Amino acid sequence: MPAAIQQTAINEEKMNAFLGKVVSDFGASLSSALVYLGQKLGLYQALAAGGPATPAELAQRTNTNERYVREWLINQAAGGYVEYDTESGAYSLTPEQAVALTDEHSPFYVGGGFFVIKAMTAAVPRIEEYFRNGGGMRWGEHDPDLFVGTEKFFRPGYTAHLVASWIPSLTGVEDKLKTGGKVADVGCGHGASTIIMAQAFPNSRFWGFDNHEASINQARQKAEAAGVSDRVSFAVSDAAHIPDEQFDLICFFDCLHDMGDPVGAAARASEVLAQDGSALIVEPMAGNTVEENFNPIGRTFAAASTLCCTSNSLAHDGPALGAVATEDALRSTVLASGFKEFRRTTETPFNRIFEARR
Ligand SMILES: C[S@@+](CC[C@H](N)C(=O)[O-])C[C@H]1O[C@@H](n2cnc3c(N)ncnc32)[C@H](O)[C@@H]1O
Repeated sequence: MPAAIQQTAINEEKMNAFLGKVVSDFGASLSSALVYLGQKLGLYQALAAGGPATPAELAQRTNTNERYVREWLINQAAGGYVEYDTESGAYSLTPEQAVALTDEHSPFYVGGGFFVIKAMTAAVPRIEEYFRNGGGMRWGEHDPDLFVGTEKFFRPGYTAHLVASWIPSLTGVEDKLKTGGKVADVGCGHGASTIIMAQAFPNSRFWGFDNHEASINQARQKAEAAGVSDRVSFAVSDAAHIPDEQFDLICFFDCLHDMGDPVGAAARASEVLAQDGSALIVEPMAGNTVEENFNPIGRTFAAASTLCCTSNSLAHDGPALGAVATEDALRSTVLASGFKEFRRTTETPFNRIFEARR
């Protein structure tokens, strides 16, 4: 042990408090893999749909191995993700647990986060290498559960807020979209936001762009399934090269901070926006000082940023704004691209919503 550490007096109370926190993180970290498994195997769905079940009953309902299910249920009950009845030995979900873990259409659904965690964790060996030698990992190089999980994770927030509050917070955009406008969704991923807007504004036309081809293919299929593909088109395109349609609204949902060239992306948006149009920039919630991020949300986004967002930008020799970019950093980026106005229009616990105008 180094001499400096040997000589430092340990406060036992503080040590116990810290170790208690770490043990709770051990449980949370490992359990996130089990929540992922519960979703993949339909264990939560089966509990929600079929009611209380013993391990053997749940294994039978889901055609899985009882021995694994028994262990999984103990972990889930210990973490407060399922309830346990001592008398019957049956496990169940409360209505709140059932909605949050199984209902992908609910604004309260949180399941997507566990797909994201699983995929980002798989990137650790590569990120370790980039810590040592620089460089980065491109979005499309990640475990495909990142793309699935990102859609699942963000869609509930878009369902709850995009049409009800974010679009109305912009200058004159809602009226334009009601009567018939043109909208670009840049870095659209699987197109969840594009499709939600298309469903809400049937007189408007929508274009989704992303430089990740597999995501664009998924987005096309989802638009088809949602019955909006006559007014929604998706194309593989870098943000800096989207076509000029004189859009009334250009959206960047959780992607500007990831980009290799965010100034170039915003500059292209400014060029192809109609005269009175707006850019909607949705970014993760973060503080204006480092210490304002010292909370569970800042902790989560800074971790995702280390494993994915910062790394994607660095892979393209970018400025690596990161998921916890300050408002000042975002403003400088957007104003450097040619936009004249930048303001925060609203926010949620997870997101900051900005409007940029020329
Ligand atoms: C965190 S995901 C968000 C996806 C989607 N907007 C959503 O909210 O679900 C970031 C997306 O930005 C895309 N992206 C990153 N850099 C890009 C660029 N230069 N041009 C186009 N898309 C880009 C990625 O491929 C990825 O789909």
